[in-house]
Amino acid sequence: MTWGPDGKIAVVTGASSGIGEATTRRLAGAGLTVVAVARRVDRLEALASDLEGARGRVVPHAADVTDTEAVDALAARVRDEFGACHALINNAGIGGGAFTGREDLDDTLRTLDVNLLGTFRCLAAFSDLLEASAPSRVVNVASVAGKLGIGPAGYAASKFGVVGLSEALSLSWASRGITVCQLNPGFIVTEGFPQTDLTGGPLGRLVGEPEDVADRIAEVLRTGVAERTVPGWYRSFVAFRHVAPPLYRAIASRIDRAGGERRA
Ligand SMILES: NC(=O)c1ccc[n+]([C@@H]2O[C@H](COP(=O)([O-])OP(=O)(O)OC[C@H]3O[C@@H](n4cnc5c(N)ncnc54)[C@H](OP(=O)(O)O)[C@@H]3O)[C@@H](O)[C@H]2O)c1
Repeated sequence: MTWGPDGKIAVVTGASSGIGEATTRRLAGAGLTVVAVARRVDRLEALASDLEGARGRVVPHAADVTDTEAVDALAARVRDEFGACHALINNAGIGGGAFTGREDLDDTLRTLDVNLLGTFRCLAAFSDLLEASAPSRVVNVASVAGKLGIGPAGYAASKFGVVGLSEALSLSWASRGITVCQLNPGFIVTEGFPQTDLTGGPLGRLVGEPEDVADRIAEVLRTGVAERTVPGWYRSFVAFRHVAPPLYRAIASRIDRAGGERRA
């Protein structure tokens, strides 16, 4: 199915920095109208004015994805002002969720609320409009941490959830004309995920840029491919987990211990 940018309306959550900001720039540059969503509306307004003169335009909208009413109001605004939503990029997310016990429970629940339940809230609010705008696309920004359970358990659980949700909806929403895709970044340097342990060291080459992810999101929108990983070679780690589980667990456990020592 061909899916071009002309006249299309996209909603990008988490557009005030990092991957969401780069995606907003990429899509507005390609000619889409992008409703850019985050809590820091000053950032969104600065982004919109920076992109004045682009082929498409940016419409800032302040919303917190943990607030169901705010997300419903966002969808109502998009329906009333634009009459369509051809692409929903569920990207808003936070780190955290290092779960050791009761003292970390609130932090872990917060990570699940933003990353997983926030994605559900946005899908719920936009599903009818996406169907009415078919052929339409959803891109859920999950993570390689949603394929390999390494790092903070709450974060990994939230992203495994987004991966499972994406796989299930890619089947069940296809008949509604909505193509649901998952985009799994590896280590990308952003405000929320500065990757200071990696950049500058020998593992620095493992780290990508938000623009790399934005390019892949644009490709996923164009092609409707079910799944993409950025950088692409992270896929071999995921395959390795299934092909050689004991060896994978031995290596993963060393990586986890090293991460724990750095965090301690
Ligand atoms: N960077 C990486 O290494 C990496 C790897 C894998 C996956 N990811 C995923 O990529 C996505 C984007 O992260 P990023 O790396 O670009 O980090 P980032 O620069 O910190 O961006 C996170 C975005 O999410 C928004 N956000 C956070 N909480 C929100 C809430 N409650 N409601 C609405 N918006 C909220 C933030 O905006 P406000 O604070 O203004 O609300 C910000 O725009 C996340 O889902 C993350 O899990 C990142």
